[in-house]
Amino acid sequence: MIIVKIGGSVFSDKKGDPENFDHETVKRLAEEIGRFYPEKRFLIVHGGGSFGHHHAKKYRIRDGLPEDFEKARERMIGFTRTHQSMLRANGNFIDHFLEIGLPAFPVSTSSVFITENGEVAYGDVEVIKKLLELRFIPVLFGDVSVDLAKGIDILSGDQIITYLAKMFKPEKVIFLMDVDGIYDGKPGEGQLLQNIGVDEVDSLLDRLDCSARDVTGGICNKLREAKKIARFSEVWFVNGKVAGRLSGAIRGDGFGTVLR
Ligand code: IPE
Repeated sequence: MIIVKIGGSVFSDKKGDPENFDHETVKRLAEEIGRFYPEKRFLIVHGGGSFGHHHAKKYRIRDGLPEDFEKARERMIGFTRTHQSMLRANGNFIDHFLEIGLPAFPVSTSSVFITENGEVAYGDVEVIKKLLELRFIPVLFGDVSVDLAKGIDILSGDQIITYLAKMFKPEKVIFLMDVDGIYDGKPGEGQLLQNIGVDEVDSLLDRLDCSARDVTGGICNKLREAKKIARFSEVWFVNGKVAGRLSGAIRGDGFGTVLR
């Protein structure tokens, strides 16, 4: 089984209008997966992009719920609105998969995981396990979460992948991004690293600018999670905007960064 994370910047322009969606790219990614399915099984997780992040910031979901119910109430509305926005993004993905005969099935991350200060505290993966056995392609997403410490929070797609990798031990995890892989420095300026050893991640993190770019922390968060995942699976970072790169990562001879 292969886990594919489709980063928000691959299927939407985060700086563009709220809820813009790149249908062409997602259609092509679905086709690339279709070339390997059903011989290979897939679990997909997509990010928030111009969908969730916008609402999450506006309603300050990461601040949790205030004690006072009247104050909490508005944020609770925002919590649901953020989730609804993610459901709309998810619906677009599912439609593209179904259109080409891939039995994708939407699974709401917020109905599977409970967090504590934004970290997964509990996850019930029985349904996902069964879906995979039946050859469905479960499609999860970065989402809001019920949180044991703060009441509510955001759970990024990258974090649930770590949990899912631990549970399912996939043959590989592929992160699709809008750059060619992991760079030693700024994308385009620093050098693209085609191979990274797990024990090199910490020194790389020290060299990168890890100031948070969005509510879930950008590339550095991805690398921190990838370091944990590498204990179970090979991790690939490839450009999802370029045709054929996902296929290359699935075959194992593609262009990008491999962490092992
Ligand atoms: C964010 O998910 C989800 C919400 C803001 C609700 P991710 O953190 O996985 O999204 P991207 O890939 O960075 O857009």
